Amino acid sequence: AYIGLDVGTQGMKGVVVDDAGSVLDTAYAPYPTQSPAPGWQEQNPQDWLMAYDEVLQRLMAKHLPVVYRGIGFTGQMHTTVACNANGVPVRPAILWSDTRAAGYGEALEQRYGLDSLVRQTANKPLANFSVLRLLWMKDHEPQHYRTIQRVAVAKDWVRDQVTGTFMADVTDGSGTYLFDVGRRQWNWEWMHTLSIPRQWWADAVESPTVVGDLRRGPQALQHVPVVAGAGDQEASAVGTGLTNEGDLGVSIGTSGVIFWPRSGFSLPPHPSIHAFCHAVPGMWHWMAVTQSAALSLRWYRDTFAPTLSYRDLDQLAASSAAGSHGLLFFPYLQGERAPLMNAHAQGTLMGLRPEHRASDIVRAILEGVVFSLFHAWLMMKPAQKKSLERMVATGGGAQSTLWMQILADVFQIPVTVVDDPGAAVGAAWLARRAISGDVKELSLRVRKVVEPSQNQGVYAERFHAYRSMAMNLNGLWGKETVQG
Ligand code: XUL
Repeated sequence: AYIGLDVGTQGMKGVVVDDAGSVLDTAYAPYPTQSPAPGWQEQNPQDWLMAYDEVLQRLMAKHLPVVYRGIGFTGQMHTTVACNANGVPVRPAILWSDTRAAGYGEALEQRYGLDSLVRQTANKPLANFSVLRLLWMKDHEPQHYRTIQRVAVAKDWVRDQVTGTFMADVTDGSGTYLFDVGRRQWNWEWMHTLSIPRQWWADAVESPTVVGDLRRGPQALQHVPVVAGAGDQEASAVGTGLTNEGDLGVSIGTSGVIFWPRSGFSLPPHPSIHAFCHAVPGMWHWMAVTQSAALSLRWYRDTFAPTLSYRDLDQLAASSAAGSHGLLFFPYLQGERAPLMNAHAQGTLMGLRPEHRASDIVRAILEGVVFSLFHAWLMMKPAQKKSLERMVATGGGAQSTLWMQILADVFQIPVTVVDDPGAAVGAAWLARRAISGDVKELSLRVRKVVEPSQNQGVYAERFHAYRSMAMNLNGLWGKETVQG
């Protein structure tokens, strides 16, 4: 059997997967996020290690009658840990969703020009990418910056702590903004231009590569081979078999993601689309991220309806109508990546009248998240050569039939809802690939296929309104400025 560990945004998830891909056991341990200032999000890496200990202990407590052949890692992407030479963090980790470094992207663009930046890194500089946080630290926390000797994303830091081997992989490398994505290696020249020491970074290998063996944790796992693994997006894609260009993945989790596997490297038609290495060697993917997807619904529930379940909210939304009686919701609670690329964008509910009910607001939230995803898809669609074979939906939001119906209606394509094994299973599968050499893919377990309904017309009209309002609003939130 293989173990997959996901250093997630809310907590650590561990799974045991057998050789056929069945999940034998799972364990989870949460950890807190601190927000010391608006837009800041931090975690204490020691909390990840405590969660790691707990998760492995719980998995081992079952005494499954299996032989552990390998362990794969995955985790929240971009989340940056700056450390001293011993791997001790010099400050708390800055999370992927933290927007404090927004102004640094703007500054890089002014200095180097977007075209040249995209040639270097295949991407537009966004607040979420690791190097922007380092540039922020240099200005705001020089006492910490001076002591940095190594930098790792979340999963690489944990893997280093538990194996003693400091390594990186090509998928998370892509998200640092220091990577030559086309060549699948660090861009040393670009690092030099930014005065970022190359010694800070571990070698970046392909995701299914053995990089060490386990030194910390239960006896039964000592010296089990450990595999590099991948960012949670790429690992999830492996977990759901998203490895063909004809597939479009849509995930509605905390953030919402459109994931498009690509068999060759090319630059996306719009800078808000990320071009990253895939966890499958020789493949890339394009990805659009809307920062607050299920987070928007969670915010609503926690704020206005703490006694309701998500199922209750779904029923409430179903009692409104397609188009939410004229309400539009813009899910920019944490700023927005694709397609607005504005860390200062703000969540907005537009069109309120006295007759609106809670049901309209909840439905507008579901619709707004889908509009935002569709808006982002339009930024990559021009590169589409043949029609999509299927749209594969995962994430907590895929539990909602209504949300999936809205997705099918807005995209005007059937939505295949799959059992979402999650990133941890993808990581376990990458471990299996690295250790057994078998390239077999995990098979998709289809739960249902949701066909577009007669609401397509209403949604086409509402999306039109959404898009033009979004573009107008985007001008109001102002230019990205250096904060702090
Ligand atoms: C991807 C991203 C998020 C995190 C979530 O670019 O920032 O999806 O990976 O954990």
